[in-house]
Amino acid sequence: MAAITTTLVVGATGATGKHVVLQLLQRKQHVKAVVRSKQRLLDSLDEVAPNASTEFSSSLEIQEASLLDLSDDDLMELTSQCDATVSCLGHNISIQGMFGHPRRLVTDATKRLYNAIEANQSKEAEPKKAKFILIGTVAVPNPNGEDDKRTFGERFVQFLLRYMLPPHRDNETAAAYIQGKTDNPNLEWTVVRPTELTDGSASKYEMFSKPIDSLFGGDRSVTRANVAQSMVDMLLTKSLWDEWKFKMPTVYDDLN
Ligand SMILES: NC(=O)c1ccc[n+]([C@@H]2O[C@H](COP(=O)([O-])OP(=O)(O)OC[C@H]3O[C@@H](n4cnc5c(N)ncnc54)[C@H](OP(=O)(O)O)[C@@H]3O)[C@@H](O)[C@H]2O)c1
Repeated sequence: MAAITTTLVVGATGATGKHVVLQLLQRKQHVKAVVRSKQRLLDSLDEVAPNASTEFSSSLEIQEASLLDLSDDDLMELTSQCDATVSCLGHNISIQGMFGHPRRLVTDATKRLYNAIEANQSKEAEPKKAKFILIGTVAVPNPNGEDDKRTFGERFVQFLLRYMLPPHRDNETAAAYIQGKTDNPNLEWTVVRPTELTDGSASKYEMFSKPIDSLFGGDRSVTRANVAQSMVDMLLTKSLWDEWKFKMPTVYDDLN
C-alpha cells in the first residue's frame, strides 16, 4: 500500500485550492491548510462534494490565520511534518486584492515557506525530502528562456502586465525565485502554469513543457479541478514527479 502523505495547502479556500484539498483527501492523504476563514474552507469543500468536510475531518487539519502574519517559527512548525507544500495563493479580484498590500503575497509566502522547510531540514542529519508546488500562469515566461518566443504583441502585453498589474509581477517574481532554487536535492519543486482557468469538473488534462497557445485567448482553457488533479497526480505518482520536477509545466484540458 502506498504511504500516506501530509501536504500543506495554502490558498486552500481559493477556487483551485479547494480542489487540491478535496482531491488529496479523496485519495486518502492527509492535508494541513492555513486559511483566513475555516468556515469558508469547510463550505467550499461541501460545495464541491456534499458532506466532504465531515467525511474527511479526521484527515484535515485547519489552522485559521493570515499566512504572512505567521512567524518564521510558526512556519517551521507548520511545515515540519509535511511531505509537500502546495501554494494556490492568488490575489483576490478586487481593487484591494490587485493593488493593495500585500503586493508580494505569492513571492513572500513562497520564500518564507521555502526557508522554513530548509530550516527544518538543516536541523536533521538526514533531512526529510520535501516537494513544493507553486501555481503560476501561462503568461509567466519560464525564466530559463526555454519557452518559444512570444510574438511582439504578446511580449508587449507581458511588459504591460509586469509593470501595471502587481499580481502578475508577483507571480513572475515567485516563479523566478523558485527557478533559482536548484541547490537543495532534498527540496524539489515544480511551477504549474495553467492556461485560462474555468470552473468545471475534473476530467482529462494535458501537460506540456511550455505554453502552446496565444496570450490573446486561444481556444484552450483548463478547469481548476484538472489543475488540482495535475498537482495531486504529480505528488502521488513518482514517475510524473520525476518528469516535471524543477520544471514549469503548462496545463490544458485534454480535448481528445
Ligand atoms: N484566472 C485565470 O484564468 C488564471 C489562469 C492561470 C493562472 N491563474 C493563477 O491561479 C492562481 C489561483 O487562481 P484561483 O482562481 O484559484 O484563485 P482564487 O480563487 O482567487 O484564490 C486565491 C486564494 O488566495 C488567498 N489569498 C488571497 N489574498 C490573501 C492574503 N492576503 N493572505 C492570505 N491568503 C490570501 C485566498 O484566500 P481568502 O479566501 O481568504 O481570500 C484564496 O484562498 C492565481 O494566482 C492566478 O494568478 C489564474
